[in-house]
Amino acid sequence: MIDTIRQILALDPPKKNVTVEGWVRTARSGKGVAFLEINDGSCLAGLQLVIDPEMPGFEEIARVGVGAAVRAVGELTESPAKGQRVELKAAGVEIMGPSQDDYPLQKKRHSFEFLRTISHLRPRARTFGAVFRVRHALQMAIHNFFDSRGFIQVHTPIITAADCEGAGQMFRVSTFDPGNPPMKDGAVDHASDFFGEETSLTVSGQLEAEAFALAFKNVYTFGPTFRAENSHTSRHASEFWMIEPEMAFCDLAGDMELAEDFIRSIVKTVLDRCDEDITFLDQWVEKGLRAKLEALTGSKFEILTYTEAVEFLGQAKREFEYPVSWGADLQSEHERYLTEELLGRPAFVIDYPRDIKAFYMRVNDDGKTVAAMDLLVPHVGEIIGGSQREERLDVLESNMELFEIDPKDYWWYLDLRRYGGVFHSGFGLGFERMLMYVTGMQNIRDVIPFARTPGNAKF
Ligand code: 4AD
Ligand code: MG
Repeated sequence: MIDTIRQILALDPPKKNVTVEGWVRTARSGKGVAFLEINDGSCLAGLQLVIDPEMPGFEEIARVGVGAAVRAVGELTESPAKGQRVELKAAGVEIMGPSQDDYPLQKKRHSFEFLRTISHLRPRARTFGAVFRVRHALQMAIHNFFDSRGFIQVHTPIITAADCEGAGQMFRVSTFDPGNPPMKDGAVDHASDFFGEETSLTVSGQLEAEAFALAFKNVYTFGPTFRAENSHTSRHASEFWMIEPEMAFCDLAGDMELAEDFIRSIVKTVLDRCDEDITFLDQWVEKGLRAKLEALTGSKFEILTYTEAVEFLGQAKREFEYPVSWGADLQSEHERYLTEELLGRPAFVIDYPRDIKAFYMRVNDDGKTVAAMDLLVPHVGEIIGGSQREERLDVLESNMELFEIDPKDYWWYLDLRRYGGVFHSGFGLGFERMLMYVTGMQNIRDVIPFARTPGNAKF
């Protein structure tokens, strides 16, 4: 395998003769010389090829279009130019895949909106190079964090008959002819469908992760989740990745402690591993990004109860679009006020009203609230949702009644409370929301390789 540009630039002592492969990012020719900057995605920096007119095929090479794939051999030398340590005095350049004049990623800066229309080419743009390298580093950091603490990863199913969040925002999975499904009593008869019942794409792997936590103690899932909510915001995607740890013998306080260690640790790894990309994002995407991330690794997160949050919001000297009152869900404007204006740092909001949260959350002694926690961060809002789970069979059954959930559909979940159903807790981190926070990108569509949002699944 030929070394990547990242490897070539890191060679110490610098190697003299190298072969390099990549795509032309900029091309210019001057007095009797041509320069091609090539990049291969391995790092932000490109390698400058210096091409002498004596080289066979110079005319063709000097005219090679931006975006073309090339392979070059030559001698790595110290560069006289500013901003680069070395350059390649090319002895030979082969055009492996020519480009065209209408290559959409020319030098000038493009808007993120425009780049979304060319999702297949934007990975070659600098910002997206940085974002997707950080995405990779972040997911490795996540796996390493849990692995180093002895967590077992569980691959929970993607097709499911359960609606974990009970919000009914699921994509149906069926092999029926959509125009002519078998009917019974005025409704689609799923008994003869592929799985013999109504099934959907999962909104969360939590329920299945609970079964594994009650065998392996500490587990986590890291998988795609799907939500058919018609939200046209910069923070909602229809297909996104979620990390869900689940711990037996763990209460809400332990859950938050883990979440805080987890967030701080993965941010620290990204700062260590993606120095160059963070510097770029700090300069071009979010001024002060590095300082924000560094501050996070050293600060304690705030904890406030939902009731306190509602009081603070009531005292806020500003108008909200949605009025605040005890019992209503917090809107993103409220979450942002709390974390950005009031506290200026990440905060857990805990003990939400029972009625606005999910059926599986543990009911507090007051009977009105549940042991839930959301982690809010400036600019992104909620990145984590979690809770202690209701382990008492009778309370869980009464919760199901309250939310009109048929216990027959969840017999196995109830079984977990019958056989060694110890108290346990977990949470879900939205991977893309975390990535938005870490990169400073403001739209979730720009941190997913090929985003799925309402009205958009083409490519
Ligand atoms: O708060 P949520 O709905 O919690 C759950 O699904 C629980 N079962 C998690 C658990 O306790 N194991 O979702 C968790 C996180 C949110 O905090 C948010 O970061 C992200 O998932 N999320 C989304 N991200 C992008 N687009 C969407 N439509 C999202 N919906 C939730
Ligand atoms: Mg939530």
